[in-house]
Amino acid sequence: MSHADGRALLADAARRLTAVGVADAGRDARRLLAHALGIAPGRLSVVLNDPVSDEAGAAFLALVARRAAREPVSHLVGRRSFYGREFRVTSDVLDPRPETEMLIEAALAAPFRRVLDLGTGSGCILLTLLAEMPGATGIGADISAPALAVAHQNALDLGLGDRAGFRLSDWTDSIDGIFDLIVSNPPYVAAGEMAALEPEVVRYEPHLALTDGGDGLSAYRAITRAAPGHLQPGGRLMVEIGPSQADAVSAMMIGAGFVAVTVIPDLDGRDRVVSGRWPGNG
Ligand SMILES: C[S@@+](CC[C@H](N)C(=O)[O-])C[C@H]1O[C@@H](n2cnc3c(N)ncnc32)[C@H](O)[C@@H]1O
Repeated sequence: MSHADGRALLADAARRLTAVGVADAGRDARRLLAHALGIAPGRLSVVLNDPVSDEAGAAFLALVARRAAREPVSHLVGRRSFYGREFRVTSDVLDPRPETEMLIEAALAAPFRRVLDLGTGSGCILLTLLAEMPGATGIGADISAPALAVAHQNALDLGLGDRAGFRLSDWTDSIDGIFDLIVSNPPYVAAGEMAALEPEVVRYEPHLALTDGGDGLSAYRAITRAAPGHLQPGGRLMVEIGPSQADAVSAMMIGAGFVAVTVIPDLDGRDRVVSGRWPGNG
């Protein structure tokens, strides 16, 4: 095999990925080349004119072929950055999304000591909150045992194993205890909207993480019904929502007895988080 330099390999890969409809082909090609070379993406420009070894070149071409089949970059490199930290990601968990960082911002706006994350997936919400709130402890619950294994590994990687616990649970069914913050980014895509999702999402992410198989609101019904039994007076419930769900989820929270129910938009101006407080002073 000829020893092409990194720049030529990148240009070929970007062309190939663009041709199959990958949105940000150049960026993805750079991340995959850095991964094949075993270097941080930020160092790529330093080695771009060097010849690439046959082994790294073959690894890169294999990664590009998988990306061309629309496998997400996070699955190919096994990691995803979220709120400034790296999380392991596999096909068993939702790829942490930048819009979920809005839920983090909203939750960190007030102090908490004990947090419950329902549908924890990779653990990105729970573990970020614990890392940002020294001394707090928490539980991540999920109905998927393989997802919990990923979350547990992420807790260990981030040095949070002593402050984070994980439970196999259908929402709160197997959860004991009282919390001052409950957060959730539940599956909220309606069954009828699944076909419109990008191939990366619908082919490679766990459907259990994406949809309830119904109207996209059943998780919120379960969570708003169960949360009061696990919240201190004055405790907060904060859920991520799809952009069209603010009215329905706000009404559920108000109906369940929450006060100060507020809708928080994301950086693109779309409704993204609904927050409510359980009455009392705590
Ligand atoms: C949208 S993903 C969110 C993952 C992660 N919290 C994040 O924000 O990246 C929803 C998660 O809810 C979990 N889930 C789905 N149904 C559940 C249920 N009945 N009880 C608990 N977790 C559930 C899925 O396994 C998945 O990990």
